[in-house]
Amino acid sequence: MALVSGLLLLMLSILFEEARTQPNRFGEIHLGSQLSPISNLDSWQSPSGNFAFGFYSQGNGFAVGIWMMGQPNNTVVWTANRDDEPVSFNATIHLSEEGKLLLRTEQGNENLIANVSEIAASASMLDSGNFVLYNGSSIIWQSFDYPTDTILVGQNLTYPDKLVSSVSSSNHSSGRFFIAMQEDGNLVAYPTNSAGLSVDAYWASDTYQDSKKGLSLYFNHQGFLFMDTVSKKPVLLARSSYPCNNKTAIFRATLDADGIFRLYSHCLENKTSRSVRIEWSALNNQCDVRGFCDFNSYCSGTGTNADCSCYPGFAFNDPSEKFSGCYKNVPESFCTGTKEGQMYDVITVENILFERYPYSVLDEKKNNCGLSCLEDCLCDVALYMNERCEKYTAPIRYGIKDVNESSIAFFKVKPTPAAPPMSLTIIIESKKSLLVFLAIAFGSVTFLCFVIAISTFCVYRDRAYLYEKLSGIISLAGEFTLRSFSYSELEKATSGFMEELGRGSIGAVYRGTMPRGDRTVAVKRLEKVLDEGEKKFRAELGSVAWFLCGGLSEGSRLRVLEKRHPCRSFIPV
Ligand SMILES: *[C@@H]1O[C@H](CO)[C@@H](O)[C@H](O)[C@H]1NC(C)=O
Ligand SMILES: *[C@@H]1O[C@H](CO)[C@@H](O)[C@H](O)[C@H]1NC(C)=O
Ligand SMILES: *[C@@H]1O[C@H](CO)[C@@H](O)[C@H](O)[C@H]1NC(C)=O
Ligand SMILES: *[C@@H]1O[C@H](CO)[C@@H](O)[C@H](O)[C@H]1NC(C)=O
Ligand SMILES: *[C@@H]1O[C@H](CO)[C@@H](O)[C@H](O)[C@H]1NC(C)=O
Ligand SMILES: *[C@@H]1O[C@H](CO)[C@@H](O)[C@H](O)[C@H]1NC(C)=O
Ligand SMILES: *[C@@H]1O[C@H](CO)[C@@H](O)[C@H](O)[C@H]1NC(C)=O
Ligand SMILES: *[C@@H]1O[C@H](CO)[C@@H](O)[C@H](O)[C@H]1NC(C)=O
Ligand SMILES: *[C@@H]1O[C@H](CO)[C@@H](O)[C@H](O)[C@H]1NC(C)=O
Repeated sequence: MALVSGLLLLMLSILFEEARTQPNRFGEIHLGSQLSPISNLDSWQSPSGNFAFGFYSQGNGFAVGIWMMGQPNNTVVWTANRDDEPVSFNATIHLSEEGKLLLRTEQGNENLIANVSEIAASASMLDSGNFVLYNGSSIIWQSFDYPTDTILVGQNLTYPDKLVSSVSSSNHSSGRFFIAMQEDGNLVAYPTNSAGLSVDAYWASDTYQDSKKGLSLYFNHQGFLFMDTVSKKPVLLARSSYPCNNKTAIFRATLDADGIFRLYSHCLENKTSRSVRIEWSALNNQCDVRGFCDFNSYCSGTGTNADCSCYPGFAFNDPSEKFSGCYKNVPESFCTGTKEGQMYDVITVENILFERYPYSVLDEKKNNCGLSCLEDCLCDVALYMNERCEKYTAPIRYGIKDVNESSIAFFKVKPTPAAPPMSLTIIIESKKSLLVFLAIAFGSVTFLCFVIAISTFCVYRDRAYLYEKLSGIISLAGEFTLRSFSYSELEKATSGFMEELGRGSIGAVYRGTMPRGDRTVAVKRLEKVLDEGEKKFRAELGSVAWFLCGGLSEGSRLRVLEKRHPCRSFIPV
């Protein structure tokens, strides 16, 4: 017993008095040493036996790193070249005679573990969890300078260092979140697949300072996490309760795979009893982690009981990893996928909030908000909030369900087969109440169709609506609007309704030329604005607009369209 406490005292003193320039010779690793995952020397342990450097198993192979001994599992605190493939059991680690620390793979490749130009004379796994290389008198490389997802007592996180979470507790490759020590003195957490802007941040230490020097995050020996500056007093970020009856405790702060920065204590009672405790969490609600549920999904639940769900009309990218986001489960774009008469439904979800970058904001009533999305091919969801209607295109990110948000989201979805078709209305403002004119110019392909139609005399009387795809009106970026023309513009375009092409039940169709470029258009002049004519007009407009706004930019889609709507049936000149 006396021996055990003596050892513990020794461990503590080593832990606390590790000096950078005074190499501790206890447990020194000499040049020419090597490790292999299948020999009984697969790691170099620290004198206390609390930390080890070497091979640990990862997937079907092995990774190189440092771990804290634990029960039942070890805790990996550092990984060399963490995004490299695991190596096979034939790989070896060498502290070579040339003074290099390297990993020799089965294929004979030699990858540097410590990328340092100086030549090492020895190495050591220290009790602090720091693996160091010495040149004889000084440390020339240390793992503490290359943090992965964890910092330990004695380690400093200084600008521009960052911690990147692991994929999971069993895969230590770079994961989905990072926490950066910024130049402005703030420690801020972001999702990895973001631009790292303030809208992406989900946690910050709020420790801005003017002087841009000397700021670092570190532990003291009681396991208190501080932010230090040269000019100001250190700021206490988190404190530990020092839980273990005056026995050795090891503290670590880890950006966990779920994106939450946590402070842990590991209490080393004896070799077989090692308890782990969460001392502090930067966030208590999993859903507060931006991007915890990836694109097109939303987070619900409180505390650590969080769940990701796809929005209506979307399906999981990987059903076994629900946080990995969702895709739109309609094979084609909404607009092109529709046959005449079959429209889309709207599904309403309340209390939803996501990143608010709408492409369009309308002053609509609640009831019209969903309708407005239905009518707009670009729109995947409309969010009604604070008496405004915002329209969005997928992908949508940072979704959460929060009962305290009084929002309503309208998702456009493919109708279930049983659902009655929704009608789609496009309101065209007519300048004069007597006559309504609509002019349509064609996009290049449509125009070709038109020419073919004329040249083959496929003249049809009845349904004479032609729609417009002017490059300026429907851009590739997807800005879509129906443009209305004034009576005088159309009069000019048709040279005063000179050349009649055909006549339908509600009006005659005239040939015209648009002033911008020499696009040929057909203009239908409604001769009676009866309710019936208007209704019919709108119905046809609806179906053709559907048709048009879909696949105009992509040849492949057009071909599909042409099959469904042969040229002559929609250009009935
Ligand atoms: C770890 O995760 C990364 C990224 O998801 C993946 O590419 C890699 O194959 C995983 N490694 C193992 C050993 O499962
Ligand atoms: C220990 O590791 C195994 C295998 O990776 C895992 O199934 C188990 O949940 C882990 N136990 C703890 C307490 O982390
Ligand atoms: C490891 O090396 C041995 C001998 O060189 C070879 O027979 C074996 O196939 C190798 N193992 C793997 C997994 O490649
Ligand atoms: C080693 O570091 C140098 C300079 O920092 C860098 O150019 C080189 O790519 C690194 N080599 C490896 C294998 O990481
Ligand atoms: C070790 O490195 C330090 C600092 O880089 C240098 O001053 C010292 O001369 C080196 N010692 C040896 C033996 O190379
Ligand atoms: C961390 O910072 C302290 C104070 O600035 C310094 O004494 C210590 O050597 C640093 N530790 C490492 C591992 O760089
Ligand atoms: C821990 O040590 C302190 C002084 O070193 C002592 O006052 C305290 O009672 C000890 N706690 C336990 C639980 O033994
Ligand atoms: C280790 O500590 C636990 C809890 O304090 C105790 O139950 C167990 O007997 C101890 N084991 C040894 C080998 O001392
Ligand atoms: C909603 O608001 C109430 C009262 O302000 C609060 O107690 C509750 O925790 C909030 N719920 C959520 C999920 O934020």
